[in-house]
Amino acid sequence: MRFEVDFLVLGSGIAGLSYALKVAEYGKVCILTKVDASESSTKYAQGGIAAVMYSPDSYEKHIQDTLNAGAGICDEKAVRVTITESTERIKELINWGTNFDKTALGVYDLAREGGHSEFRILHHQDKTGFEIERALLERAKQHPNITIKENQYTVDLITQHHLGEIVNRHHPGVECYGVYVLNQTDNSIDTYLAKITLVATGGNGNVYSTTTNPVVSTGDGQAMVHRAKGKLANMEFVQFHPTSLYNPIEKPSFLITEALRGAGGILKTIDGQPFMEKYDKRESLAPRDIVARAIDHEMKVRGEDHVYLDCRNIEKSVITTHFPNIYAKCLEIGVNITKDMIPVVPAAHYACGGIVVDEFARTTIKNLYASGECSCTGLHGGNRLASNSLLEAIVFSHRAAINSIEKYKDIEFNSQVPNWDSEGMVFNEEMVLISQSVKEVQQIMSNYVGIVRSELRLQRALERVGLIFRETEELYNRSVLTPELCELRNLIANCYLIIKMARARKESVGLHYLVKY
Ligand code: FAD
Ligand code: SIN
Repeated sequence: MRFEVDFLVLGSGIAGLSYALKVAEYGKVCILTKVDASESSTKYAQGGIAAVMYSPDSYEKHIQDTLNAGAGICDEKAVRVTITESTERIKELINWGTNFDKTALGVYDLAREGGHSEFRILHHQDKTGFEIERALLERAKQHPNITIKENQYTVDLITQHHLGEIVNRHHPGVECYGVYVLNQTDNSIDTYLAKITLVATGGNGNVYSTTTNPVVSTGDGQAMVHRAKGKLANMEFVQFHPTSLYNPIEKPSFLITEALRGAGGILKTIDGQPFMEKYDKRESLAPRDIVARAIDHEMKVRGEDHVYLDCRNIEKSVITTHFPNIYAKCLEIGVNITKDMIPVVPAAHYACGGIVVDEFARTTIKNLYASGECSCTGLHGGNRLASNSLLEAIVFSHRAAINSIEKYKDIEFNSQVPNWDSEGMVFNEEMVLISQSVKEVQQIMSNYVGIVRSELRLQRALERVGLIFRETEELYNRSVLTPELCELRNLIANCYLIIKMARARKESVGLHYLVKY
């Protein structure tokens, strides 16, 4: 089938939905999403969304905290844009129906997380993302100009390459005409022509064996833009969240929000000794890179497979009102967090780098925008400040919308685009060829390209991933497409970009920590 839409949105998390709601006032919008619409990292966000709401907080303080966390390599312009627009965008989320918790006095109950000098995290208990996703999705479903199509796996961006032109990284003007999509309801490949396309496909945490990310986070957008010869940056800055619940049989790893440390939770070794004072004067509330490395170090030195987060000093009423979801989850595995310490380990959590965009979320490919975790705006630099990602998504989706609305009327659909050619492809009967390669890739990345890296480990990772890349390309070139095969291919592209950029950065900076041995 062939479709034509004014605004095509890939992904139904906060970035895609907030953009769609804005451009839908001007033209027809189609949102494509690979499983059901609510499944996204957004839905699982716990701690909240950072924004300047009341004094004594100020834009300048939030800007400085973001720059400090970013290890000196944030793009200051992106930081200033994001933070100074934070209050307006939060008001919009509230107008769209998002409920943030308030105190008995009727003001927003702001929390504090690592690296923040003020209380500025708006939240909805410990399931803020669930509430945001609910509000945005309800609103989008009611909008007459928005169509949401579930189980639609975007395979590739369509550019001049599909018209037979040679498109390499030096091409003067790659253009996006739309996308090819694997319709999982009948396994056909549909062609979507669009005036404007927004990539909002989220992160790539599944590159690693242990991640807080849902299974949909396979870096599809980053890989598609890379294949289409768009620019990506900062992929080496993978943020490991210091505290995911240690429960080896569970995938993805359940997050234990940093807000619990903001409320007084203390990190301890298995024998109950606090250790963070050895690493940073902010102790358990130091920025994430420092805390994750400290935990990793303690575990390796002591030969233990987790540490503890001790929340027993936090009042029970605070736990049950502010953290009911975590309280209930831990009880399920026999841990009563008002009485027992919580076993925790770091897990891959957030991609600070991604598709390079400017201040209007424009990628280096014409008529293609990117927003949310798949993008690299420069806000996070070498390390993201907690709860700045939901904020970045709404700010840059807003900016993308303003720019798209100005442009779309002058763009024509490209009728020369051919349909997908599946001639000669055969169905791959052996799922094991894919599932085993996914596991291997994840192990290579976890062992060699994790919290601590070395030149030797990176070199080894590149060689090992290279072998799996060649096997997978061979399989891809003869197989009927499946989401699993496409995801494996995309994971490999993300690994390649992470390793390549990690090898190019010769010094330890932010989340990229190199050792000599
Ligand atoms: P997502 O919300 O991940 O949405 C991506 C969408 O794209 C999904 O709908 C997915 O199905 C779709 N998609 C992907 N590939 C394809 C494809 N090929 N074809 C079609 N559709 C596709 N950040 C904060 O600021 N505060 C927090 O408290 C916080 N807590 C977090 C807790 C957890 C457990 C996790 C995992 C992350 C947390 N983060 C938090 C990070 C934040 O949630 C994400 O960065 C943010 O939600 C990303 O939004 P997004 O719209 O870019 O992507
Ligand atoms: C958390 O709640 O600790 C996650 C916050 C974030 O990733 O920004």
